[in-house]
Amino acid sequence: MIAQQLQREQTPGTVYLIGAGPGDPELITVRGLKMLRAADVVVHDRLVPHELLAEARQDTEVIDVGKYPGRPRPSQEQINRLIIERARGGAIVARLKGGDPCMFGRGGEELMACRRAGVRCVVIPGVSSILAVPAAAGVPVTHRGMVRSMAVVTGQADPAGHGHPIPYRALAEIDTVVVLMGLANLDEITARLIEAGRAADTPAISIASGCTAQQRVVRGHLGTIAEQAVAAELGSPVLTLIGEVADLAPSSIDAESMAQFLHSNGDLWATKSSAAGGNGEGTARHWRD
Ligand SMILES: C[S@@+](CC[C@H](N)C(=O)[O-])C[C@H]1O[C@@H](n2cnc3c(N)ncnc32)[C@H](O)[C@@H]1O
Repeated sequence: MIAQQLQREQTPGTVYLIGAGPGDPELITVRGLKMLRAADVVVHDRLVPHELLAEARQDTEVIDVGKYPGRPRPSQEQINRLIIERARGGAIVARLKGGDPCMFGRGGEELMACRRAGVRCVVIPGVSSILAVPAAAGVPVTHRGMVRSMAVVTGQADPAGHGHPIPYRALAEIDTVVVLMGLANLDEITARLIEAGRAADTPAISIASGCTAQQRVVRGHLGTIAEQAVAAELGSPVLTLIGEVADLAPSSIDAESMAQFLHSNGDLWATKSSAAGGNGEGTARHWRD
């Protein structure tokens, strides 16, 4: 309580851009959890592990600004305004984002908006899906003798239409390529990579809901993975990794038992959270303009 009070006095009106990790609530950093517990307002995206919200104080305002089908979503400008206004009102704002806030998460835009507004904004890095999702599925993104380079690309077209095309020729030379937000365009991305010179039989793996008990894995090759992901009906979020290391993935039986072993800890988390008296859905609400 005293620590919280001190925190409040030392950091009035601050936005903390917190990386919530890639799906498993235990993958938030110690600092991220500390600031989430200290926050007066939590503004969160859809992909953050919802168990974490129970870590907020009972009186914390929890606002969901995530994108859901059929529901209005605030624009980035509205989110910027929301966090800036709350911080200007003296609140400790925890802006909770999936993975790392600055990895294809628009954290940079929020950081710049706070800076322009003269509001202090502190980034608390998070465990990004680009490393954690393959690792938790038993695939090291680098491996001695196999990988000397790695690239991360987004499969989503630039919504602002700035026309930043993916440099496929350069990408075809990179050992490990990780594709985020690529499910809808995976057929095009893989075809363009093959066109640019990457061998169609390069190992590839798609991982859905990685780092969670719902994880699903599809293994194949650059030339087949898009079709396989559709056939397996993988649902978002999906990360696809292309490169020799995809061949190091464990057999599906080993992968399943690994995931089961890991997530048997989930119960522990639930017990801890309720014992700590988290607010759960108490003051939570969806964004409204
Ligand atoms: C908007 S990006 C945000 C990435 C996030 N900032 C990070 O550092 O992981 C969302 C994309 O990340 C990937 N992703 C995030 N969490 C994932 C998970 N648990 N399993 C598989 N892919 C995930 C998917 O490609 C998803 O479409």
